[in-house]
Amino acid sequence: MAPVTQPVPGDRGPADSRKEAVAINGLVKGFGSQEVLKGVSLNLYEGENLAILGKSGSGKSVLIQCIVRLLDPDAGTITVLGENVETLNSDGLGELRKKIGFLFQSGALYDSMTVRENLEFPLRRIRRSLTQEQRDAKIKEVLDHVGLYEAIDKMPSQLSGGMLKRISLARTIVVDPVIMLYDEPTTGLDPVTSDEISVLINDSRKKYKTSSIIITHDIACARATADRMIMLLDGKVYLEGTFETFENSTDGAIKAFFK
Ligand SMILES: Nc1ncnc2c1ncn2[C@@H]1O[C@H](COP(=O)(O)OP(=O)(O)O)[C@@H](O)[C@H]1O
Ligand SMILES: [Mg+2]
Repeated sequence: MAPVTQPVPGDRGPADSRKEAVAINGLVKGFGSQEVLKGVSLNLYEGENLAILGKSGSGKSVLIQCIVRLLDPDAGTITVLGENVETLNSDGLGELRKKIGFLFQSGALYDSMTVRENLEFPLRRIRRSLTQEQRDAKIKEVLDHVGLYEAIDKMPSQLSGGMLKRISLARTIVVDPVIMLYDEPTTGLDPVTSDEISVLINDSRKKYKTSSIIITHDIACARATADRMIMLLDGKVYLEGTFETFENSTDGAIKAFFK
């Protein structure tokens, strides 16, 4: 009989045959005397939705900023789509970043631009070979995807929080990223709107074949989207497993999260 594999950090277990979109090994990052990440190792596999949980200030945003090298790690290695991000020159890093969609916690649309202009901006910068016709078609496609084509000529100030999140998602996905990094995609939204965003995260994976890290402390969002979950605690991976692993855990720190 095959032994039962317990998912523990560093043991890739049954997922071994899958390709890693992101592989993080021994990531250490601090600020001054504050140690935030103290040796984090985790993989994101191709096509997977991985939720990363952790209380506020546990270093979740720092972790994904290290992946795109908005922050430089103090130690450890990060491999993204087969490339060691630390050794890339600025051109290489620029090319790699084009393949990574980063949905910031704050949404980050340009307030002075219409929705159409907000979407056109990254397309012009990243997908330079597209004609105006192709750009228009792509913008229509992603706005249909998020169910907001009718908002194309609106200004961000005219949109609700949920709509802003959808448009931000459309803007991130318009350039066809391979990897999506969602930082607290449902924080600040009401439960119904949050559920709509979770559905959209799943639909985006299906339609655009993305591999995604979803940082969240919204249990409903994790349940709806995650194939696998990781909890960060005290700068380390504390638990890794499916939603059921977490839900059934008798560990105090995990239960505190799930109450
Ligand atoms: N650029 C920075 N400079 C200094 N400290 C930072 C920086 N970014 C994050 N921190 C600190 O690192 C810790 C983890 O932050 P963060 O990753 O944003 O937490 P969260 O898990 O809530 O996303 C916090 O104490 C925060 O103040
Ligand atoms: Mg954060």
